[in-house]
Amino acid sequence: MKDIITLAIESSCDETAVSVLKNGREILSNIINTQMELHKKFGGVVPEVASRKHIENIDDVLEEALKEANITLNDIDHIAVTYGPGLAGALLVGLSHAKALAYTLNKPLVGVNHIEGHVSANYIEHKDLKPPFITLIVSGGHTHLVEVKNYGEYEILGRTRDDASGEAFDKIARAMGLGYPGGPIIDRLAKQGNKNAIEFPRAYIDEGYDFSFSGLKSAALNYLNAKKMKNEEIIVEDVAASFQEAAVEVLANKAIKAATEKGYDTITLAGGVACNSGLRAKISELGKKHNINIKYPSPVLCTDNAAMIGCAGYYEFISGRRDDMSLNAVPNLRIGQR
Ligand code: KG4
Ligand code: ZN
Repeated sequence: MKDIITLAIESSCDETAVSVLKNGREILSNIINTQMELHKKFGGVVPEVASRKHIENIDDVLEEALKEANITLNDIDHIAVTYGPGLAGALLVGLSHAKALAYTLNKPLVGVNHIEGHVSANYIEHKDLKPPFITLIVSGGHTHLVEVKNYGEYEILGRTRDDASGEAFDKIARAMGLGYPGGPIIDRLAKQGNKNAIEFPRAYIDEGYDFSFSGLKSAALNYLNAKKMKNEEIIVEDVAASFQEAAVEVLANKAIKAATEKGYDTITLAGGVACNSGLRAKISELGKKHNINIKYPSPVLCTDNAAMIGCAGYYEFISGRRDDMSLNAVPNLRIGQR
């Protein structure tokens, strides 16, 4: 059978990314231009700045991706592009580019849900992985526990009722003046701290599958404020370790509970927080105990990239889905939604 070549574009937040894939799961190139340094001084992503940078970067990133994959635009079988969720202006840059390419080259266009892209990163990493499985999506903007019933078929079991998990990491790091994005910094500091030093609350709300991080976040902020008021020393390593432990314990336990109750033998992690070493260790330990396989992508595929978008787009493409020039950005697109 002829190989299928996917060209994928991602620009939903602060990474301008283009990837070329062969048969959906083999990366020929995966170029990521991150604007992280630029947004650092603002303590978070500034939407207007992100859109402008995407416009400046996208042609170069595309050229590099084609060059590294050693192909030309004519070799592509279809184009996959993130159309939501994300920042409207940022999404529009990648989407307009993808539409222009699809139109001028006369190639099929497939719009991809960014969150479904995160889940699909696992297919690239683990060549033998097939649905069904449970996936725990933990990123800067999302926290979902989902049943992946088939390629492109998702059922949400639970979601965060307030902050996303990554957002909670970022806010605590910011409160301690540690910089942006906070997740990787907290992760690094936590390794040198005592996770039992501070008793932060665990939100198991209703024993169901939803999450809440606002209580934990407030408890950590209150702890920091109280220490400052009393002029007492804050051991950032201990705060990081105790906060991380409280966050990952709930995430891991709920994912295991979902797999056990719904009868799945595999859990995948997806999204930026899937890089977290505490979460990986905790869920792997519980997985061993409950006989559940735990899988996660390597760090470069956990955070935003276009290869994951190409993989999700490939499965949409072979199932017959096509989009036309009316495809628009949907900033609040939900998983499983078309
Ligand atoms: O998936 P992602 O790149 O972007 C979104 O789609 O949101 O996730 C970014 C988030 C940020 O909140 C960042 O702090 C978090 O992932 N993150 C981490 C780690 N690496 C990235 N959080 C905890 N531990 C990490 N090692
Ligand atoms: Zn993302």
